[in-house]
Amino acid sequence: MKLLVTGGAGFIGSNFVHYIARERPDWQVTVLDAITYAGDEKNLKDLSNDKVKLVVGNICDEALVDKLVSETDAVVHYAAESHNDNSLNNPRPFLDTNIIGTYTLIQAARKHKKRFHHISTDEVYGDLELDDPNKFTPDTPYNPSSPYSSTKAGSDLLVRAWVRSFGLQATISNCSNNYGPYQHVEKFIPRQITEILEGRQPRLYGTGEQVRDWIHAEDHSSGVLVILEKGKIGETYLIGADGEKNNKEVVELILKLMGKESTDYLHVNDRPGHDMRYAIDSSKLRTELGWKPKYTNFEEGLKETIAWYTTNESWWKPQKQATEEKYKKVGQ
Ligand code: NAD
Ligand code: DAU
Repeated sequence: MKLLVTGGAGFIGSNFVHYIARERPDWQVTVLDAITYAGDEKNLKDLSNDKVKLVVGNICDEALVDKLVSETDAVVHYAAESHNDNSLNNPRPFLDTNIIGTYTLIQAARKHKKRFHHISTDEVYGDLELDDPNKFTPDTPYNPSSPYSSTKAGSDLLVRAWVRSFGLQATISNCSNNYGPYQHVEKFIPRQITEILEGRQPRLYGTGEQVRDWIHAEDHSSGVLVILEKGKIGETYLIGADGEKNNKEVVELILKLMGKESTDYLHVNDRPGHDMRYAIDSSKLRTELGWKPKYTNFEEGLKETIAWYTTNESWWKPQKQATEEKYKKVGQ
């Protein structure tokens, strides 16, 4: 099996490439990644060059995409501009990569008749009230809130239209908030861990009552592999591990696990348009394809993640100062 993994040098993509190298050691993986501020060649450095090849390039580059897609059996598409806060400051790269990049890839997959799996997010469904008894299902109407989530929603709709109009052999997965190793320090959990490691206080947007449905990146990878191998063409699968926690609880737990007072954090400016709650009903993936998550104890997964950032300071340090300068400008 030859796989083309876009965005495979980013957080979740590189976790997936490591997962494939362990679980399907005879597969060949080509990673196509532009190595933006969010990508890092080092994320793939432990992997054998015989099995995993990195091509540095842009998913909007038609000629390059056409060539790489023609040489593969299947495409797993992770590459995206992925951070909500960045999309509020400068939306344009989100339109280019998330919309035009996805369009470029599905045109090539259509032309060369290749299997395509599109990675998306639960944010396309908008948000839920804190007391809503329902969770997101594959039938929840799209209602995105931010420039990031609206471009992801747009990319999902392109894939759906290409399946129906052109017979694209595609599946889609929408996953909840991931945590684990190799996540950029701009994101919530790594930001708080590295703030504490640098002797500063974690920063909570607004009241901190917003709820996210946390899943370990390895469980996201196992969900994607099962969909790639057993998923039904044209279907959407939701990936989630029943990990709902509000942001305040998460900050308090990080502080406790790092030996600090659980009240030792700051409230900072809220995110404009901040989604209140995400929650995934993953029963379709569990019952139809037999998937289940391995990381069911959030505290254990968080402990491992804290240990990873503690021992891999050289990985995150180069990005830290510039990231904090951006947050400082907007009072966060
Ligand atoms: P990330 O920002 O860590 O990584 C994105 C990767 O894509 C980087 O390596 C970057 O260099 C690459 N990239 C960006 N623009 C590119 C372009 N034009 N051409 C080629 N490569 C490009 O993101 P992530 O958090 O790993 O998210 C990966 C995917 O998973 C995204 O599609 C995101 O929407 C989705 N997702 C993320 C989460 C989450 O919690 N982080 C949850 C659900 C879904
Ligand atoms: O739900 C899936 C989505 O999860 C993915 O599609 C996105 O790519 C990914 O970035 C993530 O989006 P969020 O906006 O939920 O994640 P983020 O890590 O930016 O923030 C998580 C929550 O924590 C959110 O409610 C905002 C809050 N927050 C964030 C930061 C960076 C803080 O309170 N303080 C912070 O410093």
